Amino acid sequence: MKILITGACGHIGSFISENIYKIKKVSKTILVDNLKSNRFYSLFNSKKKNKLNFFLKDLNNINSLNEFKNVDLIIHCASMTNAEKSFGKEKEMYNNNINCMKTVIKFCKKNNTKLIHLSSTSVYGKQTNLVDETCEKKFLNPQSPYARIKIAEENLLKKNSNNLIYNTFRFGTIAGVSKGIRFHTAVNKFCFNAALEKKIEVYRTALHQFRPYLSIRDSFEVFKFCINNNFFENDIFNVLTGNFTVFQIIKKIKKFKKKVSIDYVNSPIMNQLSYHVDDTKIKSKGLILKSNIDKDIQDTIKLLNNLK
Ligand SMILES: NC(=O)c1ccc[n+]([C@@H]2O[C@H](COP(=O)([O-])OP(=O)(O)OC[C@H]3O[C@@H](n4cnc5c(N)ncnc54)[C@H](O)[C@@H]3O)[C@@H](O)[C@H]2O)c1
Repeated sequence: MKILITGACGHIGSFISENIYKIKKVSKTILVDNLKSNRFYSLFNSKKKNKLNFFLKDLNNINSLNEFKNVDLIIHCASMTNAEKSFGKEKEMYNNNINCMKTVIKFCKKNNTKLIHLSSTSVYGKQTNLVDETCEKKFLNPQSPYARIKIAEENLLKKNSNNLIYNTFRFGTIAGVSKGIRFHTAVNKFCFNAALEKKIEVYRTALHQFRPYLSIRDSFEVFKFCINNNFFENDIFNVLTGNFTVFQIIKKIKKFKKKVSIDYVNSPIMNQLSYHVDDTKIKSKGLILKSNIDKDIQDTIKLLNNLK
């Protein structure tokens, strides 16, 4: 089986690339990234057994994937992703992420290629204490341009679902280490600051709000599950390791770094009520996720251990 990973140098894409040899069905992997995020490091010292082949391509070009033949599956990770920085950059992010989606959809339709699309649990808002995939459109309450664009991607895919075989996964915020790790998301950013003994910035209202998080190791289990079970349902699934509050995350960090101090700050992404995301739907399909986010936190802090 031949797969193609877009955004392969990113946080999730680089983790898949590093571990793809663990999925025996996959015999060849094409990596595509425009490297605008400069994560060249993701390409260094790749293991031969992963059978990777990298191509510098920008998916803003609708024909950028045309040269690839006989691809069975695309795992689509290419995206501009910084939610907090997306304020004021909506147009640029919208154009990039929707263009990427259109390029991938066109390719998959033309070549009968299956598709895994990554969305985010940030599409949910403050409506109720527990949200699941049946949450009606009018109750989705994305709090950033990034999250609004994720809904637009989902809708574009749904609209094109006729000749497509795909899944959309709404991932919780990723925690854990990969070559392409980035530090603009909650857990990673907290770990970075804690490791360097800098204050952890917490949005003033957020300390006791529950949010969904996903271990990067669990995210890989999702791809493995789809490939090994030929699991494609043209549907949307929430995926998370657990719902935690910032307070709980900081408590976990304190297990590995004793001295942690907090600075309460304002942010454009605020005023949401606490909510849990329900993952019963994907569990009922047989996907059991077993990772412990504490290990991801420990791994992340370890990366920076010798600096303080
Ligand atoms: N990391 C998380 O916490 C998280 C949570 C939920 C959903 N997701 C989703 O998962 C997907 C992957 O996330 P990630 O954390 O790996 O992101 P990332 O920002 O680490 O990586 C994205 C990669 O896409 C590449 N890219 C962007 N635009 C491109 C283009 N036009 N052409 C080619 N390459 C392009 C970037 O260079 C980058 O290497 C995204 O869709 C993201 O929204 C991520």
